[in-house]
Amino acid sequence: MKKLNTKDLDAPLVPFLYILIGIIAIASAFTFHQQYNGYIWILIYGLLMIGMGAIFINTSINGKQKIWNHIIAKQKINPNSEVLDLGTGHGLVLLKFANHLSDDGHATGIDLWRNSDQSNNNIQNTQQIIKQNHLEHIVNIETANMIKLPFESNKYDYVVSGLAFHNIKPASARTNALKEATRVLSDNGTLIIVDTGHHKKEYLKELTNLGMAIIETKTYGISGWWTGPWMPTYSIIAKKNHV
Ligand SMILES: C[S@@+](CC[C@H](N)C(=O)[O-])C[C@H]1O[C@@H](n2cnc3c(N)ncnc32)[C@H](O)[C@@H]1O
Repeated sequence: MKKLNTKDLDAPLVPFLYILIGIIAIASAFTFHQQYNGYIWILIYGLLMIGMGAIFINTSINGKQKIWNHIIAKQKINPNSEVLDLGTGHGLVLLKFANHLSDDGHATGIDLWRNSDQSNNNIQNTQQIIKQNHLEHIVNIETANMIKLPFESNKYDYVVSGLAFHNIKPASARTNALKEATRVLSDNGTLIIVDTGHHKKEYLKELTNLGMAIIETKTYGISGWWTGPWMPTYSIIAKKNHV
């Protein structure tokens, strides 16, 4: 049986296109360098495109792991917690939290399993990864949409989400998803959103409108860049009815 793991490419088409365009540019520069004096700029462009593709791949495979390790290390996770991971994909965040739970805790992951957002994305693969990590007794996954969660209100001690909110369009649907995340969170429960795209202010405004207390926001360096500093990863940690 193929050994699967949580490290799979996010938005796989993006780095593929950057690297493909880079290779074409470099090949063109070498082909036309005798006829065209400006070939050096095409060569530099090609190298930059490949570099941006490589930064994207590094963030997807290694960088986001480091970011979650950093966030989780600062949380004092009660081993009996109920955790919900929104847009779980291959279960990266789900399993990182589940590793801190006892047999009395539980972690649920939900997803629509979209291959454009993560490669090899399907419920069977993630189920297999959970089994390979021997966590099936405290972890389950379901197919559900973040904008309408099939769970009761005030249920989860942690609602967490990695790089999934920006995939929801339009803004009104993202607002619904934030409302749902907040609804299912228990009093004094913690919401942790890690995301990219340019919605940080929007999330902070909506969460404040929903009465959430913003505990921390942070923007990460090169390990969170999706091609470059213009597309960084950021985190928001907020609490419900925080006392
Ligand atoms: C970039 S992947 C990230 C997966 C995982 N959280 C991680 O950090 O590795 C985004 C995930 O969000 C899921 N997703 C996108 N929109 C969703 C929605 N409306 N409801 C549930 N899942 C969604 C995609 O299918 C995909 O698995």
